[in-house]
Amino acid sequence: MSVTVRVPAKVNVQLGVGGLRADGFHDLANVFFAVALGDEVTATAGTPGTGVTLGCSGPDAAAVPLDDTNLAARAARLLAAHHGLAAPDVHLHIAKAIPVAGGMAGGSADGAAALVACDALWGLDTPLPVLLELAAELGSDVPFALVGGVALGRGRGELLDPLPVTGTFHWVFAVADGGLSTPAVFRECDRLREAAGTGSSDTDVPTPDADPALLAALAEGDAVALAGALANDLQPAALSLRPSLAATLRAGTETGALGALVSGSGPTCAFLAKDADAAAAVAEALRASGTCRTAHATHGPVPGASVLGG
Ligand code: C5P
Repeated sequence: MSVTVRVPAKVNVQLGVGGLRADGFHDLANVFFAVALGDEVTATAGTPGTGVTLGCSGPDAAAVPLDDTNLAARAARLLAAHHGLAAPDVHLHIAKAIPVAGGMAGGSADGAAALVACDALWGLDTPLPVLLELAAELGSDVPFALVGGVALGRGRGELLDPLPVTGTFHWVFAVADGGLSTPAVFRECDRLREAAGTGSSDTDVPTPDADPALLAALAEGDAVALAGALANDLQPAALSLRPSLAATLRAGTETGALGALVSGSGPTCAFLAKDADAAAAVAEALRASGTCRTAHATHGPVPGASVLGG
């Protein structure tokens, strides 16, 4: 018996980063947006005694760690422990389409998908608020992958409020060679703030807020206004660690994107397009530009982790 869950990647249309907290995290004003580019995680009942095992397929499968650090494996164990099930036996197969270590929360998405898949496979019916708590234990971006759509994440990103949105927005994602480490990008953001003399702690940096113009653009379905309001406080840090991303961002905007930004901690770059045809053209131009490994046209918002056929 097996259960397959489809789960979206995210782009942060606004990523406001506050100062470094005593616990090592940063307070965020994080406007998450779920896109149709997604992974599928299939949970299959394992033979007794095999434990939690992992497999992965897709062009970037070799870059996915198949050990205990994988959030899908950690999610299965956490859910089992929460319900007092000792030593679960389950095989989790990840069909990987989300760029690995790309700033699109692909690992977090697989963690969320594994929670939902194992919950269904084991017939647990865990209430959503409990799944959200378990998700937050796994990582700051995991709760959003459960809910999808568009949401404002406060705290370290785990405290979610859904946001109103009208219609569909069309996106292109330019995938870089190799990933960036999220903690390293946050550290670089702190270093740049120290170097600029503004300080980097949560007593130096004001708590960020969602931009009213960006929220209005989402609510009104206005792609031009959203493009003008895209903002990512981690972008200078990602560009500092990966200067070549400046050429990727330029290539996308020169070929007709309405707006561009680094997705989360990068190095994937996100481009907003006028419609599906414009997105296809921007993706084609980016692939031809030589400034990225590949580019995908997609759309959103889409729902969070959902059981296929369920
Ligand atoms: O929560 P998650 O495990 O995804 O976070 C990975 C790392 O990213 C954290 O250990 C921290 O260094 C950094 N981070 C942060 N502030 C956040 C979220 C993540 O500094 N709000």
